[in-house]
Amino acid sequence: MNRFPVIIDCDPGVDDVAALLLARQIETMDLKAITTVSGNVEVEKTTANAKKARHAMGIDVPIFAGAKKPMFREAKHAYHFHGEDGLSGVVYECPDSPTEEEKAWDAMYRIGKESGGELTIVAVGPMTNLGLAIAKYNDFASVVKRVVIMGGAAIGGNVTPCAEFNIYADPEAADILFQSGIPVYMCGLDVTMKAYMTRDELEEIKGMNTPQTDFFYDVTNEGLIKYIGFGHPGVAMHDPVAVLYAADDSIFKTEHVGIRVETKGELTLGKTVTDLYSDKQWEHNAYIVTDVDREAFIAKVKELMAKYK
Ligand code: RIB
Ligand code: CA
Repeated sequence: MNRFPVIIDCDPGVDDVAALLLARQIETMDLKAITTVSGNVEVEKTTANAKKARHAMGIDVPIFAGAKKPMFREAKHAYHFHGEDGLSGVVYECPDSPTEEEKAWDAMYRIGKESGGELTIVAVGPMTNLGLAIAKYNDFASVVKRVVIMGGAAIGGNVTPCAEFNIYADPEAADILFQSGIPVYMCGLDVTMKAYMTRDELEEIKGMNTPQTDFFYDVTNEGLIKYIGFGHPGVAMHDPVAVLYAADDSIFKTEHVGIRVETKGELTLGKTVTDLYSDKQWEHNAYIVTDVDREAFIAKVKELMAKYK
């Protein structure tokens, strides 16, 4: 089986934890590292939550802490959705475990070089660590094969009417990434809002009765209650989309487009501007994921979570 080297850069975060639990069961993913960043909550908390996810995953993958704040702005958090602890108050007891001294952006570069340019980075939080790595290492683009992000949207936003949180939190880092020359695959709200899990589907995960499926259920249930309250048919599985896309894009629709990020606007700050719906075409520097076979996506989530015994 051809396995590919992966780093998951994240800000756990309830859906980040779900994404990590799923990644552990994807046999083709050779998870080299988990890197953490300030986002949903402070980096100290996202790192602590990543350690909890690692314990549940049951693997000895190194964790590298990253940026405490965006490259040029003050930190923004999403306590309203993830709670001040980042796990919506979900308690997951486990012994403490170490994190590495090396900074996330340095680890990304080192592991990229060690992986012979075959490294995939799945970034499901603000892209600050990537922005710093690109700024620090002028050959960073040569050591990374592709970056799959959860972030942005061709249409809409979830922090403002036109900006999604991961981009809005650090728009400069995101624009640096899109201009870096690295192939970027954007799993934005256009697809993640379609990749929702219903109450019945989540209860099937609960029925699997393992510590990992219980953890997955608890962190996802909090979001489900909120999304149902918004009138959505289920909870958007934002970060799991990016992980499953990186492993197999066959159930998704992908378009090659031009993407840049608004970093100066007031009302439009953090918007991912794409030429997807325009006849004014830019250089096609990235890829946007616009659709998913939802039933196939949920079936894959269930298949992966059922692997926990
Ligand atoms: O907008 C959704 C994204 O912001 C997800 O990555 C979620 O974890 C938050 O970071
Ligand atoms: Ca996230």
